[in-house]
Amino acid sequence: MNKTVEERIEELREIIRQHDYNYHVLAQPTISDFEYDKLMQELIDLEKAHPHLITPDSPTQRVGSDLTKEFKPVQHTTPMLSLANTYNEDELYDFDRRVKEGLPASEKIEYVCELKIDGVSVSLIYNDGKLAVAATRGDGITGEDITPNVKTIKSVPLSINKKILSAYNLSNFEVRGEIYMEIEAFNKLNQERELLGERTFANPRNSTAGTIKLQDPKIVAKRPLKIFLYYLFSDELKSNSQYENLQLMEKLGFPVNKNYKLCSNMKEVIEFCKAWEEKRDDLPYEIDGVVIKVNSLAQQKVLGTIAKSPRWAVAFKFKAKQITTKLKKVIWQVGRLGTLTPVAELEPVFLAGSTISRATLHNFDEIKRKDIREGDTVLIEKGGDVIPKVVSVIISKRSKDSKELLPPKFCPVCGSKLYRPEGEVAIYCENNLCPAQIRGRLLHFASRGAMDIEGLGEALINLFVDMNFLHSYSDIYNLKNRRAELINIERLGEKSVDNLINAIEKSKEKSFEKVLFALGIRYVGAGAAKKIAEHFLSIDALMKATEEEIESIHEIGPSISKSIIRYFSEKKNRDEIEKLRQAGLKFEMEKPKKTLYKFAGKTFVLTGTLSSMTRDEAKDKIISLGGNVTSTVSKNTNYVVVGENPGSKLDKAQKLNVTILSEEEFLKMLSNK
Ligand code: IVH
Repeated sequence: MNKTVEERIEELREIIRQHDYNYHVLAQPTISDFEYDKLMQELIDLEKAHPHLITPDSPTQRVGSDLTKEFKPVQHTTPMLSLANTYNEDELYDFDRRVKEGLPASEKIEYVCELKIDGVSVSLIYNDGKLAVAATRGDGITGEDITPNVKTIKSVPLSINKKILSAYNLSNFEVRGEIYMEIEAFNKLNQERELLGERTFANPRNSTAGTIKLQDPKIVAKRPLKIFLYYLFSDELKSNSQYENLQLMEKLGFPVNKNYKLCSNMKEVIEFCKAWEEKRDDLPYEIDGVVIKVNSLAQQKVLGTIAKSPRWAVAFKFKAKQITTKLKKVIWQVGRLGTLTPVAELEPVFLAGSTISRATLHNFDEIKRKDIREGDTVLIEKGGDVIPKVVSVIISKRSKDSKELLPPKFCPVCGSKLYRPEGEVAIYCENNLCPAQIRGRLLHFASRGAMDIEGLGEALINLFVDMNFLHSYSDIYNLKNRRAELINIERLGEKSVDNLINAIEKSKEKSFEKVLFALGIRYVGAGAAKKIAEHFLSIDALMKATEEEIESIHEIGPSISKSIIRYFSEKKNRDEIEKLRQAGLKFEMEKPKKTLYKFAGKTFVLTGTLSSMTRDEAKDKIISLGGNVTSTVSKNTNYVVVGENPGSKLDKAQKLNVTILSEEEFLKMLSNK
């Protein structure tokens, strides 16, 4: 079954949004950067070939967001950009060529190479030499105020020595850098958490991301956070280069990673990258590459920025670490929606800081494509943070009697006959009461991004399902009536049972959008749940909605709306919701307050020449107020700003009945508070 371009674009957007959420909000990525970049590149290419299909909400039109409600928003003075990635020498030479093309031929170009610390970026604003605000990157334009948390990091100077400041004539400035955890400290933290029965973190970066977003700075203070700064910015600055700025930051008392180097050509840059790819394991913290920056600040300015990354810098990403081992067996896992996923059981091997005994095989087509068989010697890799995967089979080591794998016919958990829709790669168990599905649904319900019930993890859910305590979500809220029985379970003492019951009670405070996400309706990810909740404001209104009404929500497509209708059409789902409502869960919410940014969600197109500013300046203004700027007029455009000598965009706007603004009207809108 071939998909149309439109369908593929929509599909890619959905997938990327989910990964954005996993990465930025949950701090639990499920794919490697390389795989993410590949998806994004496919989307960029398709949109380039079909520009009329670009929508302002496409993931290509913004930087990933990690905005959550609890922290005060902070508008960045200049956007916090991300970097384009390169993966090999050729791509580095391409970058070099683009830099050269962007500058006068006579100019000498130097690069500064820095280690790419695998942590979480942060911006620190100093006023009068004192730390005033620390903010996360957020969506690049607006971050979150995490000052109290950052202040707990001992290496962050709260004020700068006056003598030093006056020596450099500096008082107001911004520094940016990376908060991270050393590997040893991270392992120790995880061990402590495991002992206490708390969830462990997948890697130091996730642990850092989770920590800086904690609401209680006292807990943050106990976590082993560290920081390196790599960027200094101020109107008062007299320096001419990144190299000088790094040295200046050191003098000001900031922790700067000392492994930086000034290179006079790309060859030296490549040597630096190769050397550090070799030496990365010798460092006490994780790095995932090298950042290469044009040294001259004047040249940086000339090169400027495109979309979300600067043209004067690039990241060189290290290759995933690989090793060979023996694939003992392929087992099939059943997910909460009944999808079967093959998992390779491996002879345990140590790779990049941890022992690996399993790797995902995605689906049966992948097994066929790579001709993976039980007993094979396979090459596996770990892309920094994610579940390891099987790259390929070492065919020369295959035993003669090995057999091709066949797809399963029956569910390995409940034994029911499996279903494989025509044209799809997935295989499904259609038995809703399959214990694996029940476990998966409960696990999803209790997970961090959903009801966030601390303590109710895989082990307890398995135990409770086996003991027949849990079948459905509402059973969770009845556990408190089984306190005596629970305490009698050998592993659980009184204290942990009470902690669990408290955590369950506390989850009732979760907002309607979280509850809606927790229900686990197919295709309704966290982002979609939020939009739907904010639109309908109650489950009753949503249950009455038609497919068309649901689809009228920005970014919500037919697969989601159909799935919601199907979900509510089943009586058992409606009954379950009623039970949860009785238990005290939130099935409604207040209309969200207006966002701080008056252009939030609005899309502008600019045409013709403006007299008071350049188009780029207009674009920056719109973006800084939360709006979007696209190049083509479509039915999703809210305003077309028309300058002198407008192009065909004006005709199109008139045809589509889009609001047209003169420059004067536009300026008025900008100045209106
Ligand atoms: S420069 C425009 N330098 O990598 C400048 N970034 O996608 C962008 N990072 O968000 C940042 N070490 O979180 C820079 N020495 C370094 C870095 C570094 C780590 C992170 C940073 C950024 C991401 C790039």
